[in-house]
Amino acid sequence: MKAAVYTQYGPPDVVVQITDVEKPVPKDDELLIKVRAASVNPLDSHLTKGGPYIVRLLLRLGKPKIKRPGVDVAGQVEAVGKNVTQFKPGEAVFGLCKGAFAEYLCAPESALVVKPENITFEQAASVPVAALTALQGLRDKGHIQAGQKVLINGAAGGVGTFAVQIAKSFGAHVTAVCSTRNVDMVRSIGADHVIDYTQQDFTKTNPTNGEGYDIIFDNVSNHSLSKCRRLLNPKGINLMVGVLGGRGIISLLTRLVTALIWSRFISQKFVFFVAKLNKQDLTLLSELMATGKVTSVIDRCYRLNQVPEAIRYLSEQHARGKVVITLQ
Ligand SMILES: NC(=O)c1ccc[n+]([C@@H]2O[C@H](COP(=O)([O-])OP(=O)(O)OC[C@H]3O[C@@H](n4cnc5c(N)ncnc54)[C@H](OP(=O)(O)O)[C@@H]3O)[C@@H](O)[C@H]2O)c1
Repeated sequence: MKAAVYTQYGPPDVVVQITDVEKPVPKDDELLIKVRAASVNPLDSHLTKGGPYIVRLLLRLGKPKIKRPGVDVAGQVEAVGKNVTQFKPGEAVFGLCKGAFAEYLCAPESALVVKPENITFEQAASVPVAALTALQGLRDKGHIQAGQKVLINGAAGGVGTFAVQIAKSFGAHVTAVCSTRNVDMVRSIGADHVIDYTQQDFTKTNPTNGEGYDIIFDNVSNHSLSKCRRLLNPKGINLMVGVLGGRGIISLLTRLVTALIWSRFISQKFVFFVAKLNKQDLTLLSELMATGKVTSVIDRCYRLNQVPEAIRYLSEQHARGKVVITLQ
């Protein structure tokens, strides 16, 4: 079968190749999935690049062995191991599993849920990492409540488009930050107010009615924490979700240390988190998709042989929603 692999770190369009590998055989507690669609995340380019050189050095990461990018998958169950109880061959599923840019993969049943019939494989494959990040950030770390004011920086990307819709599904008032070309799109998925960052610096604006935001969901981290703090209400929470725009590991560490020191002295919270695979959350997202409360915004679809190009496109950091690999 064909799969995307890389055997050295570097730019995705140089190191990632589509090659023949052995078709996997499911273990007793695994399912064999025929992949119908997969989606690309910033993680894929971080992994193929091997992260910042200093991190590789500190972790003593040498040359990678054969590595397979891709973690978001949707497909059909082709076979099940003898201990699998929740799925049967022929069912359509989606979830999280390494090596998703391939014709087949094996995954444990804890990583997958049934795909609603009314959403496509491409829409389903867009969900796992991006929507779990939005859901777990807003609900578990932000403790979002109906009527709260939420600002989403980086609202037009994979995580941001889900964050806008999930915040709205909780009944929040959403202010979205994106560039001019995405203003109409983020409005169409529910944002109440949009700030075009090419025209206006959101940290220089006055939050709605002069009251602060309850949550800032920050995918970009391009403003100092003190500028963001000015926008928060006294109990507000700033979620440090991601870093875009070439700011490196030093900038991230500085923000983490600042947040740690501030936590002893100020009432607002600055929280860094990493989303986790959670089957219940995937089921909830599946329901939100099936009922149309949340939808995938898909920028581009690529074929399996275009995976290097797809990862490179996403790493330019201006995708509108999700970038998908289709194997239909
Ligand atoms: N903590 C976690 O568990 C977790 C999980 C997943 C991802 N992440 C991180 O979260 C971040 C976002 O992930 P993603 O999948 O959404 O990435 P993405 O899809 O590549 O995000 C691209 C989007 O970022 C927007 N953007 C770029 N520069 C911007 C700026 N200066 N101001 C506002 N928006 C800007 C772009 O909109 P415009 O074209 O309009 O500029 C584009 O739509 C990444 O750093 C990723 O590594 C963290």
